[in-house]
Amino acid sequence: MELNNHDTMQITINNKQYEANVGDRLLDIARVNHEHIGYFCGGNALCQTCYVRVLEGGELLSPLNEEEKALLSDNLVSEGTRMACQTTVEKPGTIRIVSVVEEVKQMFEHEPLQLAGYAGKMGWESLVKLPDTLGLQSKRELDLFEVLADVISAIGGAFELIGRACTSWCCCITGNCGCDAKKG
Ligand code: FES
Repeated sequence: MELNNHDTMQITINNKQYEANVGDRLLDIARVNHEHIGYFCGGNALCQTCYVRVLEGGELLSPLNEEEKALLSDNLVSEGTRMACQTTVEKPGTIRIVSVVEEVKQMFEHEPLQLAGYAGKMGWESLVKLPDTLGLQSKRELDLFEVLADVISAIGGAFELIGRACTSWCCCITGNCGCDAKKG
């Protein structure tokens, strides 16, 4: 997960700016920076929780690979959706992405009534790709121990994120962070 030392650039993930390098995988950039992104299978193209929407700089990223072609519907691709575990930065420039889990979180907080429609849409997009998805996964020879290790690492990372969120919430409640959450 170490970042390279050449072609340093800026990438915006979920409205926050980070440094990245040509050759970095989107999932790794997000994880190194503790950004909100799904990665339950540890980056093995199994869980489909690492989807991101590319808002800017899609041409700077690696082309869709076999896994993405099998899992992402034409609709999702046309909306700029990529799998963060399968996509790397290929050229320096400005890249802006938002993770699908962050989009869902924002929707839950601000427009909860839209969640059902959104879930239905994503379910439909998965359904239309089901034959391709099954075809891809049946061809793959996965090292189960490696996948298990990745999943355990992903779960550890998820707990770390939850821990950070709880710590910042506790700081807010006790008034140690200086934000406005305690007021009212
Ligand atoms: S599909 Fe699981 S992390 Fe990308």
